[in-house]
Amino acid sequence: MTAQKFAEQASAENQRAELLDGSLVAEQIKREVAVEVSRLQQEHGVRPCLAAVQVGDDPASSVYVQNKVRTSEALGLRSEHHALAAETTEEELLELVEKLNRRDEVDGILVQLPLPPAIDEARVLRTIDPAKDVDGFHPVNVGKLSLCQPVIAPCTPAGIIELLERNGIQISGARACIVGRSHIVGRPLAQLLLQRDATVTICHSRTKDLPRVTSEADILIAAIGRAGFVRAEHIKPGATVVDVGINKVTDEADARELFGAEAEKRIAAIARRGFTLVGDVHPAEARSVAGKLTPVPGGVGPLTVAMLMHNTVTAARRRRTLNSDK
Ligand code: GUN
Repeated sequence: MTAQKFAEQASAENQRAELLDGSLVAEQIKREVAVEVSRLQQEHGVRPCLAAVQVGDDPASSVYVQNKVRTSEALGLRSEHHALAAETTEEELLELVEKLNRRDEVDGILVQLPLPPAIDEARVLRTIDPAKDVDGFHPVNVGKLSLCQPVIAPCTPAGIIELLERNGIQISGARACIVGRSHIVGRPLAQLLLQRDATVTICHSRTKDLPRVTSEADILIAAIGRAGFVRAEHIKPGATVVDVGINKVTDEADARELFGAEAEKRIAAIARRGFTLVGDVHPAEARSVAGKLTPVPGGVGPLTVAMLMHNTVTAARRRRTLNSDK
């Protein structure tokens, strides 16, 4: 049966994909982290510390960084928010990173991306001490990930793996297709899925006949940054669909087209605060074709922060060569 036919039939039967609750898994992970933080403190007198660095005042970055700092405090970690002016030079930023590298009590360093265009992002990332690189973006850590060596893995891909595994979704032997080849999500996620014996395909803007490729996947991950891009024709009936996108919808007609039965609630949100969020997957179409689907919001987003907390505790333990490593 084609995806389109399946969508029609599923819709007629009011069949809906099961929603994969990322918030629930994120809460589980954060509870585990809090237990580990208190154990480190009691047994070793160590309180892991995360330093978050932000350059400029991009509103989305501010929300993400504040969320990371607030969550650290809630779980018993120490945190520092280094908010630098948009005019900060590359040399000034590098100086701060080097200072954080030298401070022994700092376990994790996170430089929020994107950085202003005048700053060489790659140079900043490779200046972070790989042992404190809780984002897993340093070239040494990227290399270790691709060699299957123990490493702190990037937060969003690691969170997606937790979501799949904790929901009992079989990765070994599955065909996994990732749409998007970014350094933050697509490429590292491909490594993590491959390590778990999935057959992995990465698609991108030059992929020919995209729906034919994506609709072979048992696990389809959309990480391209285009609102509602993945539609029924891209999805194999019954597949697990993971939506990494976070896009703002401000137009009522767009919301009506994207959200189907949920549209009124979303239109009310636009009226209230000017926007509603949609992922890279068309929610109404995906819900009638996919077997399982992550919602936006409440899917992958909360997992990124939870895994950052997990990574910071892992970095603290490894740097201090404390045992019971996970
Ligand atoms: N910008 C978007 N996602 C991320 C992330 O996971 N880490 C950092 N540092 N910046 C980001």
